[in-house]
Amino acid sequence: MRAVTTTEPGGPEVLIVSELPDPEPGPGEVVIDVAATAVNRADLLQRMGFYPPPPGASDVIGLECSGTIAAVGDGVTGLEVGAEVCALLAGGGYASKVAVPAGQVMPLPAGVDLVSAAALPEVACTVWSNVFMIARLQPRDVFLVHGGGGGIGTFAIQLAAAAGARVFTTAGTAEKVELCRSLGAELAINYRDEDFVEVVRSHTDGHGADVVLDNMGAKYLDRNVDVLADEGRLVIIGMQGGAKAELNIATLLGKRGAVIATALRSRPADGKAAICASVVEHVWPLVADGKVKPIVHTVLPLADASEAHRIVEGSRHAGKVLLTP
Ligand SMILES: NC(=O)c1ccc[n+]([C@@H]2O[C@H](COP(=O)([O-])OP(=O)(O)OC[C@H]3O[C@@H](n4cnc5c(N)ncnc54)[C@H](OP(=O)(O)O)[C@@H]3O)[C@@H](O)[C@H]2O)c1
Repeated sequence: MRAVTTTEPGGPEVLIVSELPDPEPGPGEVVIDVAATAVNRADLLQRMGFYPPPPGASDVIGLECSGTIAAVGDGVTGLEVGAEVCALLAGGGYASKVAVPAGQVMPLPAGVDLVSAAALPEVACTVWSNVFMIARLQPRDVFLVHGGGGGIGTFAIQLAAAAGARVFTTAGTAEKVELCRSLGAELAINYRDEDFVEVVRSHTDGHGADVVLDNMGAKYLDRNVDVLADEGRLVIIGMQGGAKAELNIATLLGKRGAVIATALRSRPADGKAAICASVVEHVWPLVADGKVKPIVHTVLPLADASEAHRIVEGSRHAGKVLLTP
């Protein structure tokens, strides 16, 4: 198979296309002929040598894909060779073939083409598991998602709005602010000009946010706790603003608030399978209805993986950047 490998840890230029042996499906796995994969920020860290794959996962970068099932391993039921699917991967997506546990394989939502479906597994599983399964966002709750123009943000805005929440978001350019509004955000705050704590409080009569989905980590921790409503839930999924910060426990305690941090990639396979099943049950119908759409910034060939990483590194994208083998 063709796969993107790295000559050494480093910048985007270390990504090269190589020939590797085809994967075989182990027990409980299927092999997918990849139609498309997507670039995630974790891929940039893995390329630089800072985010090694979990034990047993492929060394090839790539956390999601869409494609056609090419082979089925022992013990797999309900998945047939030739079926068009998308999948959440622990690695291996930047390739023409990938092996994946059957529980992480999902059907395509109705109405989504095979290539665009590669934009869905990571964002759907991350947003659904954190915002709905863990933080229990309710209709009419106030929801704040940071980085509204990114892959996670564009999906979270749509899903929370479809669930009847009031959606607030932050973004760094006028174009992304406009996109966030068009996707269903009541208010998109340009974080370069305005303080999101003040804006969310003033637009919610001082209530604040019932749920915050955060990509910034340390840099936003104190302000995220400040913006929480009583019994609010802050879920941290990224560390774009660093990993270490002081937490004002008195503020959190007074609000009876919760700070939660999760990572999808390192979850055990049965936990990922439970999330995928819940996504298919609860999220795919909203996609099929057109209430939530995959937002694809661009589709590039696998040979342009370096350029795809440059785009994401520079935050020049809105939504997802896809790669086709
Ligand atoms: N824990 C998990 O399981 C999990 C799973 C998936 C993703 N993640 C993490 O979630 C984060 C988002 O992922 P993604 O795929 O959506 O990445 P992405 O597409 O690159 O989006 C990140 C967004 O953050 C915005 N941003 C940068 N600085 C900001 C700031 N100070 N305030 C608010 N927004 C800011 C960026 O653009 P602008 O500055 O132009 O607005 C960009 O739109 C990443 O950190 C990723 O690693 C975690």
